[in-house]
Amino acid sequence: MTQSLQAELRVDETQVADTSFARFINVQKSYDGVELVVKDFNLDIQKGQFVTLLGPSGSGKTTCLMMMAGFETPTHGEILLKGEPINDLPPHKRGIGMVFQNYALFPHMSVAENLAFPLEVRHLSKNDIKQKVQRALAMVRLEEFGDRRPAQLSGGQQQRVALARALVFEPELVLMDEPLGALDKNLREEMQYEIKRIHASLGVTMIYVTHDQTEALTMSDRIAVFNDGVVQQLATPEALYEEPENAFVAYFIGENNRLCGDVIDYQGNTCRVRLDSGDTVLAKPVAVSDVGARTTLSLRPERVSIVADDDTSLENCFTAQVQEVIYLGDHLRTRLSVCGNDEFILKTPNAEGTAGLRPGQTIKVGWSSSDCRALDA
Ligand SMILES: Nc1ncnc2c1ncn2[C@@H]1O[C@H](COP(=O)(O)OP(=O)(O)OP(=O)(O)O)[C@@H](O)[C@H]1O
Ligand SMILES: [Mg+2]
Repeated sequence: MTQSLQAELRVDETQVADTSFARFINVQKSYDGVELVVKDFNLDIQKGQFVTLLGPSGSGKTTCLMMMAGFETPTHGEILLKGEPINDLPPHKRGIGMVFQNYALFPHMSVAENLAFPLEVRHLSKNDIKQKVQRALAMVRLEEFGDRRPAQLSGGQQQRVALARALVFEPELVLMDEPLGALDKNLREEMQYEIKRIHASLGVTMIYVTHDQTEALTMSDRIAVFNDGVVQQLATPEALYEEPENAFVAYFIGENNRLCGDVIDYQGNTCRVRLDSGDTVLAKPVAVSDVGARTTLSLRPERVSIVADDDTSLENCFTAQVQEVIYLGDHLRTRLSVCGNDEFILKTPNAEGTAGLRPGQTIKVGWSSSDCRALDA
């Protein structure tokens, strides 16, 4: 490596370090001194980004937020805010806004008093407080509601007050833990939009926790898929859906057909896999590199096509038995038996003439090797 290239790489490294706003470095957490509920958590969040921790129940998402907020201490590792370690900084000195699922507003205070509280604690002047509370109410479109008590508001309105209270002191970082969990579907979608709008207009950095994949996909710049205290993949919503790196992510994000087998050989960008059913499939090797490796093939239902008998354009073609056809308005879900898998799903837009499919019928389906990812077993 030339010296100038080395110097360039060094400059790059420092630039990366400078732009990182919040960081978890090799963070571990045990509550009982025995079991690690967060095993090795690494996350680097840029200023202004909306990052979501997505994962099943008990995977350690809340624990990670609590450590960033300062309510829990890491057992091992370091947490940085703007490049500074904050392991020993108490919560109130971190300047972080927080919203939780059961939005604990103070019931005996009016909405305006609830919003003024974080500012009073910070000793702002009466005038400043009044202005900031008005602005925060306007931001969540509750200008007329300052004098009400929380109990006199709907669930969605209460949640908007909680959001305003987390933002009123203009924190640079806001943590949200399943903030919409208690709301019905319509309100949830409205609030998702509201949070995105506020995020875009204020440019605050957000760490958001949810176990709802649709919510994560629609709201986030990046998603950290979390399982068992470890980040499985950190990527944009599109990359997570299109290019899952392991079987857990493929299974957790979106729908997914799974076929199990062993890799026979590798040829350029593809590998051949002998399925347990005896069929041979061409796939894209993603998490396998050895001949003989056990693998799970992952294939999205919308990437499977019905093909004509004489069609040879797709590398993978198999006969399939139609088990069940479910009409879902804009699309059809057809359950097939393919390559020994009786739960193989084909998803087709209603526009394409799949309407004629009947249970018991034999058809031919196909898919391209590039849509079929060979992942870990
Ligand atoms: N205060 C605590 N003391 C002991 N164990 C705890 C404590 N808080 C959480 N745990 C355990 O740590 C693990 C991770 O919990 P955590 O609340 O971080 O999960 P989560 O991903 O937020 O789950 P959920 O989606 O259900 O909210 C769980 O097994 C949980 O039982
Ligand atoms: Mg939680």
